[in-house]
Amino acid sequence: MRIDIITALPDLVASPLSHSIVGRARTSGLLDVHVHDLRDFGSGRYRQIDDEPYGGGAGMVLQAEPLFACLEAVMNESPDIPVDEVIYMTPDTQVLTQATVNALTLSSRLVIIAGHYKGIDQRVRDAVVTMEISIGDYVLSGGELPACVLVDALARLIPGVISDAESALTDSFQDGLLDAPMYTRPASFRGMDVPDVLMSGNHEVIREWRDRMRMEKTRRIRPDLLEE
Ligand code: ADE
Repeated sequence: MRIDIITALPDLVASPLSHSIVGRARTSGLLDVHVHDLRDFGSGRYRQIDDEPYGGGAGMVLQAEPLFACLEAVMNESPDIPVDEVIYMTPDTQVLTQATVNALTLSSRLVIIAGHYKGIDQRVRDAVVTMEISIGDYVLSGGELPACVLVDALARLIPGVISDAESALTDSFQDGLLDAPMYTRPASFRGMDVPDVLMSGNHEVIREWRDRMRMEKTRRIRPDLLEE
C-alpha cells in the first residue's frame, strides 16, 4: 500500500512513522509512505500557504491554491497506482472506527491531507476530498498526529506486517468487544496474583474466561458497543 501525506509540518509525522510496527512495515516494503511538504507549494518569498478566514474569526485557514498544486503533483507521482481515497483529517466529521480502518486496508493508495486546526479552504473539501476522518471528539493543533494514527491503524492490518497474524484479529474492537485483561511474569507481584485460570494450561477454560472478561468489561466501560 502507498500512502501520501500532505502536511505543512513534515517533521511532526517523521518520527511516529519511523518506529515500531509502522517503521518495520516501511523498511520491509509492505508500506510505502511519502510525506509532502505543503510549503514547497506556497506562494511568494515566505511561501505562504494559509490566510485569515473570510468573514473573520481566529486562526488561519490553509489556502486552496497550494493544496491543489500539491495534490496535482502527488497524483502525477506514480500515476500507475490509482488513488483510492483522498482523506482529510478533521475534527468536524465522523469518528474513525475499526470497521473503516478494515475497509481502507483494501486500498492500493491513499492520500491524506493534514490540515491546521482551523481547517482548509472548503473548496478543497468539495472538489477533491473523497473521505473525511476525525480521530475523536476533541480538537488537536493539526491533522498530523491524526494522520499518523490512521497510518498506524492501517499498517498493522497489512498482511505480513504483524508476525502473529492472529494478534491483530484479536485486538479490541475487531469483533466489537474490548480486550480481556493481560498478565505476564511474575505470577505474583506486590501481593497481586495472576488469576489461576491463566496458569491452568487449559486453553478451552482460558478462552471461556477471556470471553467472559471481554463481555463484562465491555458492558461496564463501553455499553454503547453492545447496543451496536
Ligand atoms: N485535526 C484536529 N483535531 C482533529 C481530530 N480530532 N481528528 C482529526 N483531525 C484533527
